[in-house]
Amino acid sequence: MNSDERDNPSPSTPDTNSDLAAETDAVILVGGKGTRLRPLTNSIPKPMLPVAGYPFLQHLLARIREAGMTHVVLGTSFKAEVFEEHFGDGSELGLEIEYVVEDSPLGTGGGIRNVLSHLRHDRAMIFNGDILGGTDLKAVLRTHVDNAADVSLHLLRVADPRAFGCVPTAEDGRVEAFLEKAEDPPTDQINAGCYVFQRDIIESIPENRVVSVERDVFPDLLVKGHRLYGHVDQAYWRDLGTPDDFVRGSSDLVRGIAPSPLLAGRNGEALVDESAAIAGGALLLGGTVIGRGAEIGAGARVDTSVVFDGVEIEAGATVERCVVAAGARIGARAHLRDAVVGEGAVVGARCELQGGARVWPGVALPDGGLRFSSDV
Ligand code: GDD
Ligand code: MG
Repeated sequence: MNSDERDNPSPSTPDTNSDLAAETDAVILVGGKGTRLRPLTNSIPKPMLPVAGYPFLQHLLARIREAGMTHVVLGTSFKAEVFEEHFGDGSELGLEIEYVVEDSPLGTGGGIRNVLSHLRHDRAMIFNGDILGGTDLKAVLRTHVDNAADVSLHLLRVADPRAFGCVPTAEDGRVEAFLEKAEDPPTDQINAGCYVFQRDIIESIPENRVVSVERDVFPDLLVKGHRLYGHVDQAYWRDLGTPDDFVRGSSDLVRGIAPSPLLAGRNGEALVDESAAIAGGALLLGGTVIGRGAEIGAGARVDTSVVFDGVEIEAGATVERCVVAAGARIGARAHLRDAVVGEGAVVGARCELQGGARVWPGVALPDGGLRFSSDV
């Protein structure tokens, strides 16, 4: 018997995990400013940045669809219009997508409360909009129903929990505390940014106020004795909020280490748009993505990088673990590592960019104008 066929745990709950998904709304929080990805997010909201050939959010939407949820509500704020312009009513993706705009950001808890009137079911699965994950969403729903939980949280263990919400649980999975970005976290078990909420819990969040689900809602629910449970697994997981995670996530998708229904059967060392021009002897590896109309010169080497549309990388340049935004130009024999190059920027020939460098959109570094060595 597989988990889809197990017995109905109670007469009022659907008996297969697919039925569970069909009776669950999906909500995606996409209202953040994406500050750690500036300047890429100056013009494009984080969830819409191209990752492995698609706006990141499209990979998540495909996973939601694959799990059997069809009604999706996006909680937007920053650059709200971009989402609807791209996805419309969602029908092309087999989804019904609605958009709810916060005029000024209401925070993660306020954002959840703000979509309440659009929810159709007693249960909603809520996603942070910047998580690349491989977790079995139907299994998370099943855990929620089996525990008769008010809220369930997808959890996982990481090496350094300090940048996340730390969530210790009891042996039976019951959540004992929620400590957002604690300096000295008591466990390495963290909030993976995917929850199941019962509707009445969403109703209890104060309306039209800035509320953090992590700092306000979860601690408050625990104090009041509500049933919060964790669903722990070790599936692929990465928050794409920083340039380093962004390039690694994209590369993992291209190589098939991170799953996406959009890339099935197309995994490999590089994903190159058919309209890109790749000169002889250019090397594309490490899960690199090359966007529409990009041109890669002879002998250039692009490794574990995300190259947006219309980028030019000239002969002999090396680009490693970088994001190069649309229309930027990397001059001949320039060497870039762990850098972000903004839209339309120019990195002159023979320039060197290293760890953490961010070139702002439109900025032009002259040939040989930035180097870390004295030889020319
Ligand atoms: N609608 C709306 N309104 N969405 C928002 C708002 C808001 O005011 N603020 C943030 N968001 C969205 C972001 O767009 C993002 O998709 C999600 O909420 C989480 O925000 P981040 O800014 O990415 O948070 P984080 O990565 O520092 O921490 C969160 O995610 C971690 C997992 O990656 C927390 O939930 C942590 O507890 C968690 O461990
Ligand atoms: Mg994040």
